[in-house]
Amino acid sequence: MIDMKNVFNQIETNMNDLVDKQVCWSACATPEQMENARNGKLELYLGISKRVPPEWIKDISGKDVLCLAGAGGLQAPLLAVAGVNVTVIDISEKMLDKDRYMAYEYGLNISIEHGNMNDLSRFPDDSFDYVINPASLFYVPDVITVFKECYRVLRKGGSFILAAPNPIAYVCDFVNDDNGGYYKAVNRMPYISSEHPEQSDWVEFGHSMQDYIGGQIASGFVISGYLEHQCEDITDLPFMTKADKL
Ligand SMILES: C[S@@+](CC[C@H](N)C(=O)[O-])C[C@H]1O[C@@H](n2cnc3c(N)ncnc32)[C@H](O)[C@@H]1O
Repeated sequence: MIDMKNVFNQIETNMNDLVDKQVCWSACATPEQMENARNGKLELYLGISKRVPPEWIKDISGKDVLCLAGAGGLQAPLLAVAGVNVTVIDISEKMLDKDRYMAYEYGLNISIEHGNMNDLSRFPDDSFDYVINPASLFYVPDVITVFKECYRVLRKGGSFILAAPNPIAYVCDFVNDDNGGYYKAVNRMPYISSEHPEQSDWVEFGHSMQDYIGGQIASGFVISGYLEHQCEDITDLPFMTKADKL
């Protein structure tokens, strides 16, 4: 049985450590990206190389948007400068500091909440028009709890956009050999890092597509958009979904 409190405390520590190490996904939006977003050319990336299709967010300006586990000074400031009313919630204060910095630098009004995406009880029902979730669900043991909360806080007609890894990234390990190495399918799903002693303090959960897609459907959503992107590491095949609350 996973001790949830310890899991999330450990994840917060891990996230803050990575920010100190300046991991790529903790980089703030560039001045050029901010200028483009201000001028109606918002380009939104959720931690994967393909951008959110513009038609998925074409009416987002002026709307109430929750950036879920989306700190780091990237998505929230870009949305805010594009005229969106943004709230960002994240478990890492150091990631949120980046949004505080961007809000100060650009004079933006961003509502900044330190918290766990597993528990959105601070937000009333029907609070948002969009929930935008950069790749991060592999830090929660149970995605369905998150999906149900997203459904609850969204208004009717609202959309939930998430990015996540395909499970093949967890099923396969790279095996080095004299011929340059190869991938081998070694892990059953779901993948739980604590079952792999070499992972030490790293906490991560590989969810099945049944959980990602079926879980959104079971939570009440209708999936209206899907795309994926194969990275240089061929088992790195992240995807994005757009799911609507009708
Ligand atoms: C890979 S980063 C994604 C954000 C980044 N802006 C990006 O573009 O990729 C993952 C984020 O999820 C946050 N996170 C992890 N577990 C969380 C949780 N249970 N609740 C809220 N935020 C969480 C981390 O602190 C981190 O900011």
